[in-house]
Amino acid sequence: MIILIIGGIGGIGSGMIEEVQSRYLSAKIHATYHKQQPNKQDEEISWHEVNICDESQVAVLSQKFEKLDMLINCVGLLHHNEQLPEKSITQFNPEFFQANININLLPTLLLAKHFQNKLRQSGLSYFVTVSAKVGSISDNRLGGWMSYRCSKAALNMALKTLSIEWQRTASNICVLSFHPGTTDTLLSKPFQARLPQGQLQTPAQTARYFFDLLPTLSTEDSGSFIDYAGNRLPW
Ligand SMILES: NC(=O)c1ccc[n+]([C@@H]2O[C@H](COP(=O)([O-])OP(=O)(O)OC[C@H]3O[C@@H](n4cnc5c(N)ncnc54)[C@H](OP(=O)(O)O)[C@@H]3O)[C@@H](O)[C@H]2O)c1
Repeated sequence: MIILIIGGIGGIGSGMIEEVQSRYLSAKIHATYHKQQPNKQDEEISWHEVNICDESQVAVLSQKFEKLDMLINCVGLLHHNEQLPEKSITQFNPEFFQANININLLPTLLLAKHFQNKLRQSGLSYFVTVSAKVGSISDNRLGGWMSYRCSKAALNMALKTLSIEWQRTASNICVLSFHPGTTDTLLSKPFQARLPQGQLQTPAQTARYFFDLLPTLSTEDSGSFIDYAGNRLPW
């Protein structure tokens, strides 16, 4: 089995790698990193340095594979040094909005374009992006986080649209939008204080939930928006 984790150095991405290592002993694991250097001493993992928002770099990455059984995209942005997610439209900043679209949506489209032929080569393969429940339009009761919400809603639309196209042209690929639950990573750090006790998962827990769920999902589930507990989320 050949598995590619995009954003393998991030909180959830590194949890996914560790879980793959413990579950799929004969899997060939590939992972990407961006700014932060991984520990390359673990020879079980093939690391690739990629800015996943750059199409030429995604194309070069795809050329390193003949086939792929699983692609899990764990890249994402909620805040950066200069801006937290908006509480009000008065805080809206076009550059921050573009950064959210660039990092939360664009990579999935580029990865789908360049990896579909690789994922087609397996009996059953998975194309998964870590999304977020706040991207649900019908579940939106609190408002706020305009750029992040819009980018994740657009991401969900992209995944749903892909699943429909691939039912016709690459029916072995199961496309999933995965909500991980609040997980203790740099991305969620500024928002952990007010969480009810017991609601913060470790990256290892999130990854375990995901890989417990995966064998229960097949091409009939393609195009689902699903959370860590296996619940189908409303769009
Ligand atoms: N943590 C949560 O509670 C939570 C909840 C719901 C959804 N999510 C979603 O889960 C996913 C993973 O988040 P996380 O919590 O693991 O956050 P994280 O620890 O901040 O990881 C995000 C990763 O994205 C990478 N990245 C950003 N821009 C990139 C680019 N242009 N090219 C390549 N890599 C890039 C970062 O690498 P560099 O820093 O090296 O750029 C980082 O490793 C995100 O999509 C997030 O929206 C998380």
